[in-house]
Amino acid sequence: MKSYSIALIPGDGIGRDVTAAAWTVLETAASHSGFALAGTEFRWSCRFFEETGRMMPENGIETLRGFDAILLGAVGWPAEVPDSVSLHGLLLPIRKAFVQYANIRPHRLLPGVTGPLRAENFDILCIRENTEGEYSGAGGRVHQGTLDEVAVETSIFTRAGVERILRFGFEQARSRRGKLASVTKSNAQKYSMVFWDEIARKLAADYPDVEVTSYHVDALAARMIMAPESLDVVVASNLFGDILTDIGAAIQGGLGYAASANINPDRSAPSMFEPVHGSAPDIAHLGIANPIAAIWSGAMMLDHLGEKAASDRVMKAVEAATTRGIGTIPGKDRTDAITATVVAALT
Ligand code: NAD
Ligand code: IPM
Ligand code: MN
Repeated sequence: MKSYSIALIPGDGIGRDVTAAAWTVLETAASHSGFALAGTEFRWSCRFFEETGRMMPENGIETLRGFDAILLGAVGWPAEVPDSVSLHGLLLPIRKAFVQYANIRPHRLLPGVTGPLRAENFDILCIRENTEGEYSGAGGRVHQGTLDEVAVETSIFTRAGVERILRFGFEQARSRRGKLASVTKSNAQKYSMVFWDEIARKLAADYPDVEVTSYHVDALAARMIMAPESLDVVVASNLFGDILTDIGAAIQGGLGYAASANINPDRSAPSMFEPVHGSAPDIAHLGIANPIAAIWSGAMMLDHLGEKAASDRVMKAVEAATTRGIGTIPGKDRTDAITATVVAALT
């Protein structure tokens, strides 16, 4: 029987609950579809940091490299470990080391879920640059603690990095409804975003079938709320994409529904699948985290592995649950109950 090796990194807080839930659903879907998932769990987290002084072992990246894919819950427990340490010690290095440059985040309403908007018929695919830009990690602080203190954090946009993410966006638009929104802020950022716009215009010549529109990020944020049905594929830099995809999560009913895939399109290293949300310290230990975002991310993983039928099975089961009103109102159904309903709906 075909088997895929999956690295499981539940992480912190509700990351543990939602990863366990997703894993139960994925294993069941795999067995229905005639293949196996072999999971290896890594307890890398803020707790691991407190025990070892590191978020992952020194050879963590090399350990993960051999897997077919990575399923991650959430990283961060700011009460114990500063986010600037925990995220830069685990999540962000994985995205960069494995050149997972395309972060794909779908935003649409599942049946039965009522979002906060009048609009219901939207289907947006956000493509977020995931390895450079505002998250370059380049910068520093000098004269620390004095009145002369300076902090610098430099965005880095490379031609290779911008071209590949925009091209990825064009390809996605071509495979969907043919519309691409390129997110800019070239009215204020006259180097990086003018560069982004120039490359978008240049690539547009290769995609005459795609209608590309440039939107300033502030205007696009408003459009996602006022006219989300006017959008198809949205392509954005790292930080703009981060913020816009929490708006995407909000309009699809909440962070409990927002899935994401950190993709290495060249397949030169494993890709990583994780919900958009974090460790939710405010509800951790209550057993009420919505596992749907993690399950949906798992469905994206199956699709990436070439198991489209199993991926479709998972999404059908999620939709069967939400159609019946299970997992549609935050806090109403417990994580376990939502998971059991999805598992039972798997065909
Ligand atoms: P968060 O996403 O954890 O929580 C924001 C709000 O959404 C909270 O009120 C939370 O209860 C709610 N929420 C999130 N997921 C939910 C779910 N599945 N079901 C129900 N409600 C849910 O964001 P935050 O509070 O800004 O961050 C908490 C920690 O997580 C921080 O350490 C942060 O850095 C980290 N974080 C990690 C990731 C990641 O690992 N990918 C993503 C975002 C935040
Ligand atoms: C996300 C998260 C991360 C990001 C944080 C935790 C570093 O917010 O995946 O959206 O900003 O990329
Ligand atoms: Mn985010």
